[in-house]
Amino acid sequence: MEVSKKSQINIDRNKLHYDEQYKNVNVDSILSILNNLDEHLEAAITSDISWVGMYSNGFKDRIKGKTILELGCGDCINVAIMAALGAKVIANDISNQSGEIIKALNENYNFEHKITFINGDFTQSNLEKASLDFVIGKAFLHHLTIPHERKIIEGIVKVLRTDGEARFFEPAINSKILDELRWAMPMNNRPSKWFQPKAFKQWKDNDPHPIRNNSSKHFIEVGKAFFNTVEIIPLGVFERFNRLLPLKGKRSGAFKREALNFEKIFHNSIRRFGARSQVIIYRNPKTIIDV
Ligand SMILES: C[S@@+](CC[C@H](N)C(=O)[O-])C[C@H]1O[C@@H](n2cnc3c(N)ncnc32)[C@H](O)[C@@H]1O
Repeated sequence: MEVSKKSQINIDRNKLHYDEQYKNVNVDSILSILNNLDEHLEAAITSDISWVGMYSNGFKDRIKGKTILELGCGDCINVAIMAALGAKVIANDISNQSGEIIKALNENYNFEHKITFINGDFTQSNLEKASLDFVIGKAFLHHLTIPHERKIIEGIVKVLRTDGEARFFEPAINSKILDELRWAMPMNNRPSKWFQPKAFKQWKDNDPHPIRNNSSKHFIEVGKAFFNTVEIIPLGVFERFNRLLPLKGKRSGAFKREALNFEKIFHNSIRRFGARSQVIIYRNPKTIIDV
């Protein structure tokens, strides 16, 4: 399946960025996570928003023996964890570095099923139809142009079993005001859009995120074109303030855990408005499309 020139430029920019970033991934630290899996996972899935999201709805206990494709596997921590939990994992990324990490993991850890790697864009891959129980992505879809995302989701419908599930953890941009406030604050190496406009422009020129719609409404619309069941779980309405507080280590973890729990008592509309992230779950694929 061909992608447009604009989408290809975006893929190339992401590849350049992440090939560089993942050069420094420390495989020993992933192995040490695997050797303390229960303790690590318990902390991550209760206080780290991307892990809370990805492992929501009892995901951890549903994957043993299941075939899972992770798109945009990146530093490979999640594929390693899923494989250590007994899943048959197919990892995919455009970064060659992810392939190198997986090779090292397979050589150094006794997985029940070795992790396989598909290098390159998923639209070019040739997986067997209706063969996968899960297709997942953590911070993946928002790196795609919208037309490319549609092609990826078409491809997912083709390879997912009819009782399978696609799930993604992504940012949620549901309020223009909250989004502008976010851009106003400098964060890590990102300058403030309002107060450091020149530096911000320079940063944005090298940023691997395309400008696109990341609202829950968008993910509902695209999901409904291909699936009969679409679920959005908004996350982080209060957790997002952690970045403004002078908390570190265990205190920061405790705040995030409490904040993520506390938000559950609020109505979905409030949580969706204020969310900084969301889990997108697609089930019951409408058709197996020949692409
Ligand atoms: C923000 S990172 C997330 C990595 C990892 N999932 C995580 O949670 O840390 C986005 C990842 O998507 C990958 N990516 C971007 N475009 C892609 C594409 N078209 N196909 C496969 N992977 C892609 C990047 O190389 C990068 O590894």
